[in-house]
Amino acid sequence: MQKKSKFLIIVGARPNFVKVAPLYDELKKYKKIKPVLVHTGQHYDFDMSQVFFQELKIPTPNYNLGVGSGSHAWQTAEIMEKLEPIFLKEKPDLVIVVGDVNSTLAGALVAAKLHIRIAHIEAGLRSFDMSMPEEINRRLTDHISSFLFVTEPSGVKNLLNEGISKNKIFLVGDIMIDALIGSMSKVKKSKILEKLKLRKKEYAVLTLHRSSNVDNRDKLKEFFGIFSQIQKKTRIVFPIHPRTRKSLLSLRLGKENFSNVQIIKPLGYIDFIFLASQAKFILTDSGGIQEETTFLRVPCLTLRENTERPITIIKGTNILCGGDKKKILKYVNEITKGKYKKSQIPSLWDGKTAKRILEILVPKLIK
Ligand code: UD1
Repeated sequence: MQKKSKFLIIVGARPNFVKVAPLYDELKKYKKIKPVLVHTGQHYDFDMSQVFFQELKIPTPNYNLGVGSGSHAWQTAEIMEKLEPIFLKEKPDLVIVVGDVNSTLAGALVAAKLHIRIAHIEAGLRSFDMSMPEEINRRLTDHISSFLFVTEPSGVKNLLNEGISKNKIFLVGDIMIDALIGSMSKVKKSKILEKLKLRKKEYAVLTLHRSSNVDNRDKLKEFFGIFSQIQKKTRIVFPIHPRTRKSLLSLRLGKENFSNVQIIKPLGYIDFIFLASQAKFILTDSGGIQEETTFLRVPCLTLRENTERPITIIKGTNILCGGDKKKILKYVNEITKGKYKKSQIPSLWDGKTAKRILEILVPKLIK
């Protein structure tokens, strides 16, 4: 009997789960591939992890490393130490890593040292800001990977500029959009608006979790000054990341200026996508949400100075605002008046990215 090829897939943090769900689905078509799923445990709360496995029907991981939170070096090293014996035992033909979190880099480093080929899904994105931990993770992962699957044309350009061979680069589109398209029928049934007593297009959604925004008290205070202005006219719904909850508690903001800000626990995938799809606009510092709002055609004001996803600005609904109060209030005002730039959905964001990825990988790896 022909031996199966083994693909070892690593996930760790919330956005990773969304990216592997469509891949897993597509892998069912390939009987000669045996997937092995490893969850590093970087995210571990029910709301940050398990709910995504349930809603997106991702199988229970074969291994859960239970690493948890810590400093970047500690977390990365701990994941590496725990992964090595698993790789040695499983002897995978390929390791698949996604996105730009610490689990991505840790998995790629262990595989590279053991001479196992790596596929990086969501390769090539660059913010050109080395103070972001994600930028370090992306760059290093790309340079040790054999198959680089890119979401948008800027990614191809970045990789070529960094001297990576064009034979390794594949523009395949955005796998997060596969997950979104695949979940639409469930999303439409979400009862989150009723639950939160909201009406379509009458509220904004806020997400904020980047360490550069939330670990700096002064910056966080400034942001909340801006949100207190916006909420005078538009209700703000704020599913709060655990990191941000901690920072916010220490700020001791007076409730009176935020009576129209609804802080809720992190939402599962289905409810979040529905909430976002029906919002008047989104304020965010997330990477993935810039893409999801572009697909959903919902205005997105990004609270960062840069983005590694320029297509969401060039073609999509995204505008970079950083922490610029004037700029944010100007665009909020325009959106409220029904004025906003026209947008398009980027090419290859069509729900078939996982299919394209496996059509490239499988013939190269099957024994
Ligand atoms: C990580 C990723 C970031 C991604 C984000 C999505 C890195 C460097 N960053 O950031 O790119 O956008 O995930 O959410 O990998 N915590 C909990 N429960 C959890 C997880 C985290 O309470 O289940 C708290 C812990 O106090 C932890 C903090 O959140 O210290 C930050 O978690 P961590 O995984 O280190 O980074 P994120 O900010 O979530």
